[in-house]
Amino acid sequence: MSWYAGFERICRSDVPLSEYTWYRLGGPARWMIEPRDTEQLAAVVARCEDAGVTWRVLGCGANVLISDAGFDGAVIRLSEPHFLTTHFQDETVTAGAGADFPRLVRSAIERGLVGLEALAGIPGTMGGIIRMNAGGRYGEIAQFASQVTILDRERQVRTLTCAQVGFSYRHTDLEGCIVLAAALTLKTGDRAAALQRHRDIWTEKHSTQPPLAARSSGCIFKNPPGHAAGRLLDEAGLKGARAGSAQISQRHANFIVAGANTTTRDVLELIDLARERVRKNTGIELELEVQIW
Ligand code: EPU
Repeated sequence: MSWYAGFERICRSDVPLSEYTWYRLGGPARWMIEPRDTEQLAAVVARCEDAGVTWRVLGCGANVLISDAGFDGAVIRLSEPHFLTTHFQDETVTAGAGADFPRLVRSAIERGLVGLEALAGIPGTMGGIIRMNAGGRYGEIAQFASQVTILDRERQVRTLTCAQVGFSYRHTDLEGCIVLAAALTLKTGDRAAALQRHRDIWTEKHSTQPPLAARSSGCIFKNPPGHAAGRLLDEAGLKGARAGSAQISQRHANFIVAGANTTTRDVLELIDLARERVRKNTGIELELEVQIW
């Protein structure tokens, strides 16, 4: 009997993960599981753990780099309707972990709820955005999150306050937990002004970063305290560096863009080169923002 007996209908084997990430790189997941609801999710995680199967939750794959060998475990996706709901009440929007974040940002603005336009152009699912406290120059999700519901390490559903989540720069204390939903508190405001700001931030990003359609994972490295990783990489002369058809972006040195025949190994080679050069130049050790599986 297979370890996932009883879950056959929601489990597939050898699923190419390149189809599930923005980078479109890397090998297959040994298994991919899409639970129907929270109860089934908890049962799946318990089964993985009993069977010694490593598991990870994948959002929309905007910030992950999958190794060429793939992922030898179970990739869980919260893609079923139960995890996709969004609900507006007064100035709060509650969204399931699988909900598409950029779409949520636009619906909030359409309703005259402002704040999230500061996070324009950040791809991700609600769960992924919370898990890594996604943000940019104009803000981060921690500023808006009032409650986060998780499946905790003991597989209990719990609702946390913002303080309990332990948000810091591109970090939360949710390692080993699964985000189920988040409530964001916004403000009633000027819809037209919010829309304009959303557009302005988009335009700014568009002119300083590779286009969203390019194959990348956004910024590769976190900004070290007091420094911009992009500038350190640029000053180390890394713009345009290539490994195979992967290239450190000419527009923004903290992006590595994949080309037609790029493999994950090429991207990893550029990551090593970038780290080494910046270390030599400045003594600073760059920390990865992208998650490598
Ligand atoms: N810079 C250079 N050369 C470069 C890139 C940047 O000199 O090649 C300089 C810029 O001129 C600027 C400074 O470095 O003075 C900072 O650059 P930027 O304003 O582009 O912002 P960033 O810190 O590199 C952050 C987020 C981005 C987010 C942008 C805009 C991190 C690691 N990065 O970039 O987030 O899009 O602000 O809001 O926090 C991501 O998280 O994946 C991401 C792309």
